[in-house]
Amino acid sequence: MKILIVGSGGREHAIAWAASKNKKVEKIYCAPGNAGIAEFAECVDIGAMEFDKLVSFAKEHTIDLTIIGMDDPLVGGIVDIFEAEGLRVFGPRANAAIIEGSKAFSKDLMKKYEIPTAAYENFTDPQKALEYLETVKMPIVLKADGLALGKGVLICNTLEEAKEGVKTLMLDKQFGDAGNEIVIEEFMTGREVSVLAFCDGKTIRCMTSAQDHKRAKDGDKGLNTGGMGTFSPSPFYTKEVEEFCEKYVYQKTMDAMAAEGRPFTGILFTGLMLTEDGPKVLEYNARFGDPEAQVVLPRMKNDMIEVMEACIDGKLDQIQLEFEDNAAVCVVLASDGYPEKYDKGFEIKGLDTFKEKEGYYVFHAGSKFDGDKIVTNGGRVLGVTAKGEDLKAARANAYAATEWIDFANKYKRNDIGKAIDEA
Ligand code: AMP
Ligand code: GLY
Repeated sequence: MKILIVGSGGREHAIAWAASKNKKVEKIYCAPGNAGIAEFAECVDIGAMEFDKLVSFAKEHTIDLTIIGMDDPLVGGIVDIFEAEGLRVFGPRANAAIIEGSKAFSKDLMKKYEIPTAAYENFTDPQKALEYLETVKMPIVLKADGLALGKGVLICNTLEEAKEGVKTLMLDKQFGDAGNEIVIEEFMTGREVSVLAFCDGKTIRCMTSAQDHKRAKDGDKGLNTGGMGTFSPSPFYTKEVEEFCEKYVYQKTMDAMAAEGRPFTGILFTGLMLTEDGPKVLEYNARFGDPEAQVVLPRMKNDMIEVMEACIDGKLDQIQLEFEDNAAVCVVLASDGYPEKYDKGFEIKGLDTFKEKEGYYVFHAGSKFDGDKIVTNGGRVLGVTAKGEDLKAARANAYAATEWIDFANKYKRNDIGKAIDEA
């Protein structure tokens, strides 16, 4: 079996690693990939949005299954194009990926089908948004409707900040067309949990829970990033929370999408906030989380490719997911200065240490070859994941492993998973 993975981050590295464990898989390609993914896959110099080239490549190389890792191509309709060409592909079609691509869509879906989420209003007219702000309690949350690399969410403590936020999103268009429409949403407090699930359009099977750390600095300070580290499972995602979400969130979301004529096949990522009034949906994504995949996939006992095939064939009801009874922590090693300005091109040393170590992984997010060296090539450079018998052990192992790696402007958070001490 030949596989093509579309994407180039730590998530796609984790997907390539999981795919490589399937005995039927004889060859993996990744477009565009990175230096770490090259351990499992032949990297192909085609961008994730170059749909025509990807289709031609899949045909020429008789690819049996293409897995789309990233949000942009999914929202842009890559799955529809592959399907129209008779190619087998894992991921939601554009009309279902909109659950991530438009926050206004997902909020309206939740309202219509009574899925618990924060109270909100959608606006396309900045003047109306400003008038509405006069009537609401602070803090308040403003969200650009479209994809904005996880950065189009503004939490505003005062009316002035909120008005400024409307200007930033809708008039200055800091996130481009993503700000043509905005959601203004009630501010919630509580623990955040990410739950990834395989979906076949009808059936949804949740994976083990995880929690991300989005801010750049210790103590959840600093700017929002793509994610500075994760742990799995979340001790705050109790049986009770899980049962509530099974009843009121996951299957309801699947049924809602099907009822709208948008059956969802692929990975549904539900971002939850565990509020005093119960769990509420913060957001949906239409793909694996990054770096959630880096802690969830290493703990999965099932063969990922078999589960993906069951999703495509509408047979997910025949599969039960199983996870190891342990924990995993991923600490992101970034370039100092991320997510703003940073230098890259520095040699990364120590990567080989991971090869002999069971239960330790180094997933590359931004790296490339420079001759026979591997050098830094992004803000997030590596995700160092380690397993342990429990979260504390996994955290100690992951932090110990971050010391095996060396590059010039290495930066990490020191408190990934620290919240577990309060559990
Ligand atoms: P989102 O992309 O919608 O998940 O938002 C990014 C981050 O902003 C979330 O992970 C939360 O930390 C925060 N956030 C989003 N919506 C709210 C809300 N209604 N109340 C409080 N925090 C929020
Ligand atoms: N880690 C958050 C995301 O993948 O959107």
